[in-house]
Amino acid sequence: MCGIVAYTGCKEAYPILIKGLKRLEYRGYDSAGVALLQQDGIALYKCRGRVADLDEMCANKNVSAHTGIGHTRWATHGEPNTENAHPHLSADGKIALIHNGIIENYLVLKQELISRGYTFKSGTDTEVLVHLVEDIFKKEDVTLPEAVRIALSGVVGTYALAILSADAPDQLILAKKGSPLLIGMGDNEFFVGSDGAPIVEYTKKVVYLEDGDVAVAIPGKKLEIRNVNEEGKQRRYQQKLVMNLEQLEKGGFEHYMLKEIFEQPKAIKDSMRGRLNVKKDVVSLGGIIEYETKMMNARRFIMVACGTSWHAATVAEYLFESLVRVPVEVEYASEFRYRNPIIYEDDVVIAISQSGETADTIAAVELAKSRGATVIGICNVVGSTLARATHAGSYTHAGPEIGVASTKAFTAQVTVLTLMALCLARKKGTLALSEYHDIVNNLEEIPAKVEETLKLNDQIREIAKTFVDKRNAIYLGRGINFPVALEGALKLKEISYIHAEGYPSAEMKHGPIALIDEEMPVVVLATEQETYEKTVSNIQEVKARKGKIISVVTRGDELVKQMSDYCIEIPQTQELLTPLISCVPLQLLAYHVAVLRGCNVDKPRNLAKSVSVE
Ligand code: G6P
Repeated sequence: MCGIVAYTGCKEAYPILIKGLKRLEYRGYDSAGVALLQQDGIALYKCRGRVADLDEMCANKNVSAHTGIGHTRWATHGEPNTENAHPHLSADGKIALIHNGIIENYLVLKQELISRGYTFKSGTDTEVLVHLVEDIFKKEDVTLPEAVRIALSGVVGTYALAILSADAPDQLILAKKGSPLLIGMGDNEFFVGSDGAPIVEYTKKVVYLEDGDVAVAIPGKKLEIRNVNEEGKQRRYQQKLVMNLEQLEKGGFEHYMLKEIFEQPKAIKDSMRGRLNVKKDVVSLGGIIEYETKMMNARRFIMVACGTSWHAATVAEYLFESLVRVPVEVEYASEFRYRNPIIYEDDVVIAISQSGETADTIAAVELAKSRGATVIGICNVVGSTLARATHAGSYTHAGPEIGVASTKAFTAQVTVLTLMALCLARKKGTLALSEYHDIVNNLEEIPAKVEETLKLNDQIREIAKTFVDKRNAIYLGRGINFPVALEGALKLKEISYIHAEGYPSAEMKHGPIALIDEEMPVVVLATEQETYEKTVSNIQEVKARKGKIISVVTRGDELVKQMSDYCIEIPQTQELLTPLISCVPLQLLAYHVAVLRGCNVDKPRNLAKSVSVE
């Protein structure tokens, strides 16, 4: 949802900005731009398209500067074109500003500024900010950072901002509310990013800005932070960036998505590491220890999330209800927050998010907290907004996920949710020791079984060929495999643009069956399950209408294999753990279909990885 990079120091800023923007492109790739502070003022370069297009455009330009800001955009207000690309300039061309977030009262502010003689070049909400800052800076006897602080006090919405000015050279002004921003502390220099990716190469010492903060970075001086809502200087502690450079590279894979699919055995192992004790009779999740009693006594669990994380939450509904025997409600964060939901103080809300920055999920967390519920977070990005907004939580240790379509984050989330359910079930006594051991033993074998499943890559590439010219697909699953069907369908539509729907297998006959003909591929999750026979009947119903069956079965299954046009055999595991394996062939299938259709797998059209707007 827009990526921000900035630098001030004695290095050349432009290469740092371009490299950083490339690493943040997963946040949006509708347009890109940089503003550089040069001797004779601000040099502005921006264009529609990718960071590579911007770099090409700048090839013969003077890009020499020691202070600069860069932006990669995911369009919200105003179509993706050059005028709407960031940075935006003030009327006198002396202030440049980049923004991630949404200014909700921009129309009111715009009218006011127009009446004061300002003209607008773009259709964005952002442009009001630069004019507002300019207006205050010129009319009131204040410094530029103070002008920013005053301007932001009248702004409704979310923002991460980086601002530079020809009137205050070598000075970067940074501000945050609701969108992430972190500042890397180098030797007499500052690196700024929407996340750690553009910073990690230079320093691991970072400061996370808090909501309402306005920071001034001047090389050689201490970072000075004030807040829109409080007087006086603010103290923000320096933290260590948990990330390394290798994790951000493709490591020989053609796409990040493929690399991340293949990283799943490790991601699952890392998410389990240190959490299962040696004798395996206790699961301990350090981050939630203080809240275990509250969780054990929960009247209800409410899982809130968006996208793929919502599918992990839906898997967790089966896990928690079956193991912990407490009712679970799974909510789209966006619906939950606006529905005036009934939340009790003894409810435990579990918010799940890879990025920890999804605006709707954060808002749902704030709502639940304001109603007195305990809120537990599960997220992948250390230090993210979600991690800081929740009472307690557990990280998934999947490592940075760059591909826009989520893969390893999903399996890591399901792993952590499984551990959480096991931990609570043991403590509550809702799970017999023998059953607990059976699940834990199976869980430990999951990384190796995912590894085996990845060996099906070539077979799945072949199957993908039959999807290339299709316009629709149906995914079916029962029980804990139902959310996997949803996730498989989401993966396909996200990156190959084939319309796909996931359904509980039994629901097919209540509508989707009308769509089935010889052109319709139907992917059926038919692994060993209590409802296996029922699934077999559903397959027959599809076959009777000439639909093409692509089945995912437990290795050795002959019955479904014979009925299928294509059959993918995966290793056997305990039923509740099946999603950790059964999702893998569906990720690979979507990946290969998208590649064969010539789609941009890592940067699918219209999507962004981190959706920090509502
Ligand atoms: C976007 C991404 C999805 C992701 C969803 C939720 O839509 O494209 O891949 O599942 O956001 O993101 P989160 O970071 O909260 O898990």
